[in-house]
Amino acid sequence: MDSIVIQGGKRLEGAIPISGAKNSALTLLPCAILTDEKLTLSNLPRLADVDSFGHLMNELGVSTKIEGMHKGEIGRRMTLRAENLISTVAPYDMVRRMRASILVLGPLLARAGDATVSLPGGCAIGDRPIDLHLQALEAIGAEIEIAAGFVRATAPGGKRLSGGDFTFPVVSVGATENAVMAAVLAAGRTNLYNAAREPEIVDLCRLLQKMGAHIEGEGSPHIKIEGVEKLHGCTYAVMPDRIEAGSYACAAGITGGSVDLIGIRPEDMLATTNALVQAGLMIEFHDHGMKVSADGPLRPLALSTAPFPGFATDMQAQFMAMLCRAKGESFLEETIFENRYMHVPELRRMGANIDVRGRSAIVHGVDHMTGAKVMATDLRASMSLIIAGLAAEGETEVLRVYHLDRGYERLEEKLSAVGATIERRGGG
Ligand code: UD1
Repeated sequence: MDSIVIQGGKRLEGAIPISGAKNSALTLLPCAILTDEKLTLSNLPRLADVDSFGHLMNELGVSTKIEGMHKGEIGRRMTLRAENLISTVAPYDMVRRMRASILVLGPLLARAGDATVSLPGGCAIGDRPIDLHLQALEAIGAEIEIAAGFVRATAPGGKRLSGGDFTFPVVSVGATENAVMAAVLAAGRTNLYNAAREPEIVDLCRLLQKMGAHIEGEGSPHIKIEGVEKLHGCTYAVMPDRIEAGSYACAAGITGGSVDLIGIRPEDMLATTNALVQAGLMIEFHDHGMKVSADGPLRPLALSTAPFPGFATDMQAQFMAMLCRAKGESFLEETIFENRYMHVPELRRMGANIDVRGRSAIVHGVDHMTGAKVMATDLRASMSLIIAGLAAEGETEVLRVYHLDRGYERLEEKLSAVGATIERRGGG
C-alpha cells in the first residue's frame, strides 16, 4: 500500500492552486439524475470519491464522459446524461465505501418515484445516522420502508412527491441536500427550516436554479422551493474547495511560511481566516485568492466547531496539528461528530502534548516535534498528520494514503511546488 513520506522542517513558500470542492462535487453529480438532458460539470477535482460517484451513476444508468479541460480551467469536465435510468438502487458496496452515495436518494425519488439505498452503517468519525434525511423526505411526501439493511423511499402511486414543510431538529448538510434535490420536482411547495447554510448548499441550489428549479433562500436557514415539472441540462463550475485551502493555510502556518491560495472565495471561509488571524498569521486578499503568511510565533486559540458560518468540523484536525506548535495552550471543542479526535494518538507519537476529555481537547504547544510512521482513519485526520510532518524533525511516513486520495487532489505535487520535501512511496 502506498504511503506519503515527508522530510520535515522546510518553510513553504509559493502559490497553490485550489481545486474544485469535493463536498460540492458530491452533491452536484447526483443532480444529473434530475433531468434527461446533459449536465456538464467543470472544475471537478480529480479525486477517488468523484470517480466512485461516477461509477455509482453508471450503475444507475447515467452515462458519464470525462472531457479535456478548457483553457484556463484547472479541474476536469464531466458530462453526465440520465436519459433512461436502469436502476434505482445504490448497493451496499458503494455506500459502504462512500457515505455520500446516500445523496442519490432524493434525486432518484424525484425522478423515478422510487429509490433504494443501502444503510451506511458505521463510520470512522462517529455513528452518522440518516434519520434526518428520511424524516425530511417523508415530510415532502415520500413513503419510507426499512428492510434487510436497505431503505426504500417511494412517491405515493409512483407519482410526483407533494412537497411539504420540514424543520430540521439538527442542522445537517447531507439531509438538506437530499431534501432540496427531492423537492425541486415535487408537485407543490416545500419549506425547509433550520436548513444547512454551507457554501456547498448554495452551490447545489445555484446549479439547480440554472437547471430551471425555483429555489429561494439558499444560504439562509429557510429554503423555499416551488416544485417544477421538468429540469433541463446546463454547464456549471464546481466551487473552490474551502477545506483544501484552509488545510494549506495551516501548513503555511506551522512551517512559518507564506502561501498564496489561488482561486478561493474568501466569503466561504471567514471562520477559518478569522482563526488564522487570531493564531498570528497574516492574510492578504487579492483578485485571485488570498495569501497566508506566518508573522512571528503561532498563538494559541480557543475553537469550537459549528455548522456554517461557524468554524468547520472539517478544519478541526488541521488546526489542531498547527496549534501543536503554538506558544501556549489551545482549547478545541468538537460539537458535530463524536469520535473525531482519531488523529490525537498519532500526533502524540510525533511529540504533541494533547489532553482529550470527551468532546474537548487541550493542546499544550511544544517547541519541537519529531517525524514518525503514522496512520489515520479518516481524510481530515490524515491531513493533520501531513501538516505536523511538514514541521517535524526528520522523516514522517503517513500510511493509508487512500484517505488523502479521497479528498486532496495532487497533494504531493502541490506541496512540493511550494518547497516541501514530500513523495509518494509505493509499498507492498
Ligand atoms: C457533510 C460533509 C462532511 C462534513 C459535515 C459537517 C459531505 C460529503 N460531507 O457530511 O465533510 O464534516 O457535512 O459539516 O458533504 N446527523 C443525524 N442524522 C442524519 C444526518 C446527520 O443525526 O440523518 C448528525 C450527524 O451525525 C452529525 C450532524 O448531524 O452529528 C451533522 O452531520 P451532517 O451535516 O449531516 O454531515 P454530512 O452531510 O454527513
